[in-house]
Amino acid sequence: MDRLRIVVLTGGTSAEREICLLSGRKVMSALDPSRYDAVSVDLASIAEARAADLAGILFRPPAEREHAPEQTVARDGRPDVVFIALHGGAGENGTVQGMLELLGIPYTGSGVLASALAMNKIMSKKIFERDGIPTPKWVPLAAAERASAPEAALTAVGLPCVVKPACEGSTIGVTIVREREHLEAALDAAFRYGPEALAEQFIPGTEISAPVLGNDDARVLPLVEIVPPDGFYDYHAKYTPGATEEIVPARIPQAAAERARRLALAAHCTLGCRGFSRVDMIVGRDEVYVLEVNSIPGLTDTSLVPRAAEAEGISFSQLVGQIIGFALEEHGGRSGKPKA
Ligand SMILES: Nc1ncnc2c1ncn2[C@@H]1O[C@H](COP(=O)(O)OP(=O)(O)O)[C@@H](O)[C@H]1O
Ligand SMILES: [Mg+2]
Repeated sequence: MDRLRIVVLTGGTSAEREICLLSGRKVMSALDPSRYDAVSVDLASIAEARAADLAGILFRPPAEREHAPEQTVARDGRPDVVFIALHGGAGENGTVQGMLELLGIPYTGSGVLASALAMNKIMSKKIFERDGIPTPKWVPLAAAERASAPEAALTAVGLPCVVKPACEGSTIGVTIVREREHLEAALDAAFRYGPEALAEQFIPGTEISAPVLGNDDARVLPLVEIVPPDGFYDYHAKYTPGATEEIVPARIPQAAAERARRLALAAHCTLGCRGFSRVDMIVGRDEVYVLEVNSIPGLTDTSLVPRAAEAEGISFSQLVGQIIGFALEEHGGRSGKPKA
């Protein structure tokens, strides 16, 4: 069979651009040239050109429109799969997924709706609650009601609490607030990244993350326990090699591990995720709480999904190959089963 043509879409303009580039580079290096014809494309550098292409297809005069898509989107240059190595912003929130749907190009990971839901912690938590998936007590906060936000947080959640933007990742804009006097700064930090934020009850306990792999038969890889240097898994702790201890499998009681696996799969499925994801959780005293689902978890040297896969004997290259396989299966691309 011909080599699969892969575009690794990386970079972009989100706050996590640097992490995207690291993931993109790592994925590129894992694609065996004898099996894959891969190029890496920076979403930032092509954004304007691609928009122009799309406009050319969508706004062509009606008489020409019938034939437009195939002429305009060069068939020969069409990739078999776009590997989306993008975290945060347009790459993870369904926007890029929607563009690829329009272009009819198979892509890795979740579709438009699941991506949008997973990216928005307020929407995710509403769905978790609806489905009985434990998530820390919380209150939504809007920049438009900034003046009443501190009182709203204190009344609904109390201290200590965690203030975070609704739609970011990598702990960007997240603050653990232990004293009232630090609440204002925490709110300002969260609203710097968008008009929606939330305050969440701080859950003391063991932080774990559960990688999920697959489409209809999704399964949970070994649980990863996260031991950051000062208890807070912030940007520095996430991406500085050696800063955080990641222990696989997590050192938690068997019953808690069972529950965590079940909840991780439930969270992944209820948002409609496909291919892969990673579910962040805290094992509290009497319950396991789901913090969020990452629909495009990091694939850098320090990332958790590759660590968990490795513990199961799945190399990074095999992991990337499986994720591409799930994309073909999902979108009915070359060698993939057509979508029902
Ligand atoms: N409710 C909480 N209780 C305790 N720690 C939390 C809570 N929420 C977040 N954290 C800490 O902040 C980190 C980032 O929060 P998370 O909700 O996963 O957002 P992000 O999308 O930025 O990863 C977590 O990994 C954890 O260390
Ligand atoms: Mg997280």
